[in-house]
Amino acid sequence: MKVAHQPEPMTTKSIPFFPYAQLFTARERELTAVMQDVCRRGAYILQKDCREFEEALARYMKVKHAFGVANGTDAIIIGLKACGIGSGDEVILPSHTYIASAAAVHMVGASPVLAEIGPDHMLDAADVEKRITPRTKGIMPVQINGRTCDMEALQRVADRHGVMIVEDAAQGLGSTFKGRSAGTFGKFGTISFYPAKLLGCFGDGGAVVTNDDALAERIALLRDHGRNAEGRVVAWGYNSRLDNLQAAILSFKMKDFPSEIQRRRKVASMYQAGLGDLRELALPPGPEADPRHFDVYQNYELEADRRDELRQHLETRGIRTIVQWAGTPVHQFRELGFSVELPKTDSFFRRCLMLPMNVALSDDDVRYIVAAIRDFYRK
Ligand SMILES: Cc1ncc(COP(=O)(O)O)c(C=O)c1O
Repeated sequence: MKVAHQPEPMTTKSIPFFPYAQLFTARERELTAVMQDVCRRGAYILQKDCREFEEALARYMKVKHAFGVANGTDAIIIGLKACGIGSGDEVILPSHTYIASAAAVHMVGASPVLAEIGPDHMLDAADVEKRITPRTKGIMPVQINGRTCDMEALQRVADRHGVMIVEDAAQGLGSTFKGRSAGTFGKFGTISFYPAKLLGCFGDGGAVVTNDDALAERIALLRDHGRNAEGRVVAWGYNSRLDNLQAAILSFKMKDFPSEIQRRRKVASMYQAGLGDLRELALPPGPEADPRHFDVYQNYELEADRRDELRQHLETRGIRTIVQWAGTPVHQFRELGFSVELPKTDSFFRRCLMLPMNVALSDDDVRYIVAAIRDFYRK
């Protein structure tokens, strides 16, 4: 599809990076009714709405078990604990991720070992293999920006060394690799429902999913104080449950989720068509780039020459962009004890930029953003 390169628009638009309030007001009446229904029933913790959402999520992801938890970080901690990963173990993960992925590994007593990304910005299997040691217990691909890693390459490395795959799919819900959902390849997978996520609630929320029945039992105990179905405490656990209110909101929003994904893919293809010829940019893989990947564009993250100047230029046009995680890959948090050098990741972080990507963007907004970027590089 070709996006027309229009002349510079006369009026400056105001395009937020993520329009939190607008997305609520667009469905305010229905969302308020959903919340009223929960509150009028006084059903707040681990009740019908939570169970129904867990079932809907499991069906959608084609996975046996889904457990709603307090947030996507707890989801990783609980998954790792349930797998018995802890003190003395190492887990390899990309440095191009939110601190939460590494923090979860640290919080269970294990060591996060940070690895490089490949050309598609995802965890690089060859680099992972170099970092395997006798202490490596797990490989944690992060399904970043709404794309699933090449899970075959990672599984081959895991199999060669007898280590497990555990997946941080906080940003990956709805994306697939060879038709299989992000989050369902490893021993467990985790999702975040943080408000700006693909499927966002109105606060914090997360889920752990697994196809392993025994692991599912441990996860169910861990998220609710180690209590079994009779309320008897049979293990040490956490208080980490998805509120019913959030679960009901998520069930409501889930109905629109497939069409929202299509919209995100359309926006991505408009960016692709409008910006693909600019030599100053390196775009993420487009929706049709590789038939093995179905990407859902949690974010549209590109690499740009003169990135900071471009950002400033877009600001003057009313377009808000973001440099992910304030421009710092995890291994550069030296205060946390990391000393590893990851030049590819560093180079990516000097150039990376996220354009607005959400379902409130109109075609006209996207054309305006494309025109503003083209105008910058024309100068
Ligand atoms: C890649 C990644 N992992 C983990 C998390 C943690 O999720 P939460 O914020 O719900 O704890 C996030 C959320 O931003 C994330 O982007």
